[in-house]
Order: sequence, then C-alpha cells, then structure tokens
Amino acid sequence: MSKKRVLSGVQPTGALHIGNWLGAIRNWVELQNEYDTYVCVVDLHAITVPHNPEKLKSDTLSTAALYLACGMDPKKCSIFVQSHIPAHSELCWLLNCVTPLNWMERMIQFKEKALKQGDNVSLGLLDYPVLMAADILLYDADLVPVGEDQKQHLELARDIAQQRINSRFRKGNNPVLKVPKPLIMKEGAKIMSLLNGTSKMSKSDPNEGSRIGLLDTADTIQKKIKKAKTDQHFGLEFNNPNRPESDNLLGIYSMVTNQSREIVAKECFDIGWGKFKPILTDALIDSLLPIQQKYNTLIEDRSELNKVLKEGTDNANKLSGQTLLRVKQALGFLERINS
Ligand code: TYM
Repeated sequence: MSKKRVLSGVQPTGALHIGNWLGAIRNWVELQNEYDTYVCVVDLHAITVPHNPEKLKSDTLSTAALYLACGMDPKKCSIFVQSHIPAHSELCWLLNCVTPLNWMERMIQFKEKALKQGDNVSLGLLDYPVLMAADILLYDADLVPVGEDQKQHLELARDIAQQRINSRFRKGNNPVLKVPKPLIMKEGAKIMSLLNGTSKMSKSDPNEGSRIGLLDTADTIQKKIKKAKTDQHFGLEFNNPNRPESDNLLGIYSMVTNQSREIVAKECFDIGWGKFKPILTDALIDSLLPIQQKYNTLIEDRSELNKVLKEGTDNANKLSGQTLLRVKQALGFLERINS
C-alpha cells in the first residue's frame, strides 16, 4: 500500500518564531518518517500584503534553510518554493471560479488582516484561502499539519474539494480531488504572545518583544523573557483561565524541554516568576542552539540549498501536474496537443 501524504507550508514573511516551530514544523519532522511529505515555502501568499521584493527573496531562502535546520530531511521529504510550481496559481484560478464569494468574506483571518490594512486591502488577501486550498489539493494530501489558526482555511479547502468540485464534476465513483484532513496537535497548536497571554504569537505583531524568533540570540531571548508579561500569583500552573501567561509560558517550557505537562507542573508549582524566567530562558536557548548552528552552516551553502530545492521542485511538479490535468479534464477543458 502506498504511503499517505502530508503537505504543509509557512509564509516567508519575516523571521519564523517558536509558534511556527512548535505548532507546525516540529510535527512535520515526526510525520516525514511515516508519510510521503511535501513542504513548501508559500511565497505567493507573502505578497497578499504589501512586501519588500529584496526581503521576499532572502526570507524565502532563509525559510527553506530553517525547514532543514529544524530537521526536515530531503531524503524523506520534498522541499520546494510555491512560486516555482505554476500549477498552484493555475488551480487557484480554477477553484476561484467555483467558490462562492460569501464563503471568502467569512474568513476570520481575512477580516483581521483587512482591518489592519485599512484602504489598502488587495484582492489577493481575500483570495488567499483559495490559493491555500490549491496548495493542498494539488498534492492529494491526506493530512495537513498546521496550528489552530489555520483550521478555518482547512475547512474551506475541504468544502471546495467536496461540494464544489467532487459533487459537481466527478464522473462515476472516482472523486476528482482528495478531501484533506487537518492535523492540529493538542500541544503547541496556539502559542501565545509573550506580552499578552490571550493573543496569538504572530510574525506580523509590530512589537518584536511579543515573540521568540528561531534565530534570536541568547541575549535577545533573555531580554524578551525578562520583559514577558507575568501576573501577581506565586507558582506556575496550567489551565487557570485567570492566568493565560502562566499557561502559555509553562506550555512552552514543557515543549522545548520535551517533558510532559504533569512533570513541569510539578517542577514549577512552587517557584515564583523570578525563578522560573531564567529556567525558561536557558531551556529556550538550549533548544534553539542546534537549529541555529545548522542554519548558519546551511545558509552559507547555497549550492546545497539549491540542490534540495531543485529535487523538491521536480517531485512537486510531477505530482501537481497530474492533479491539475485531472481537474482540467473534469471541468471540460480541451486538451493540448503535444506534437
Ligand atoms: P503561517 O506562515 O502564518 O504559519 C505557519 C504555520 O505556523 C502555525 N502557527 C502557529 N502555531 C502555533 N502557535 C502560533 N502562535 C502560530 N503562528 C503560526 C500556523 O498555523 C501554520 O501551520 N496560511 C498558512 C500558510 C499556508 C499553508 C498552505 C499551510 C499556505 N498554504 C498549505 C498549510 C498548507 C499561514 O499563513 O501560515
């Protein structure tokens, strides 16, 4: 039996943070051992908000290098850049034409991001979730490992595949598109801001102090944790609705030290913030150090990175080309004659 397939991606919009790692990339690293795994740097998504062309290029490369530094293994998975595969844009167009506009207007992330953009909201921002559906559906993905914030986008991809393509265009028993499932782990699915335990850690937060970057130096990590929001209580605990910062930072501590929540809860229930913060700082520095060392080597070795991306692109191209053809045939497009 052939392996089930996984697809996921991260936008190259600035430095990746521990939310991207603990909520998504770390899970990919486990999944690649069991699944046929495709991960892309979703650069077409990065231009749905105003962007800097030079930075897009370096962020794309740096995101790919971080995938490898975090443990993605090109022998076990395909790593590629979304814009190198034209089928993403092409399937997006086909899906655009069957997706009701009012489905798009309901998307929470669109509403949130549009609010921040004021008068400058692009059509691409509204269309973003359809492009994401194309990313997933092109690879017949069974599972899509993401953080909690992507749940609604995954539901849209499922609805488009099921209700707008398969139920309308299938011939006989074979569906045109595979309907994917989200994989959202219980732990790490929503890492919160260091400055507000009720708001998500995000690349777009203008305050850098709200997040720990994967490439932050030890000194920066120490300063950020020092300034992280605390509360009046003594001792750290999980699941107290009045103490979101305690829940978040203890959760991060548990994940970066690979210890269970029970163990860290026991370790920290009778220590104050003053004692806990340096412990968390050391744990973060120690867990990020191997990633940073690997990244620093990789980012200098452009030919190795190019090789990995080329192989990934070749694999992605083959697979996505087959799906695109299947969709075009189902929709009734005249086939191109190759002389
Ligand atoms: P992006 O680039 O915002 O985030 C990348 C991944 O990191 C997860 N994530 C978090 N997880 C836990 N806590 C957080 N604070 C946190 N912040 C981000 C996200 O859930 C995501 O899994 N639309 C996607 C990119 C995308 C994609 C795809 C993903 C485009 N096409 C196809 C999967 C499949 C996004 O903006 O992710």
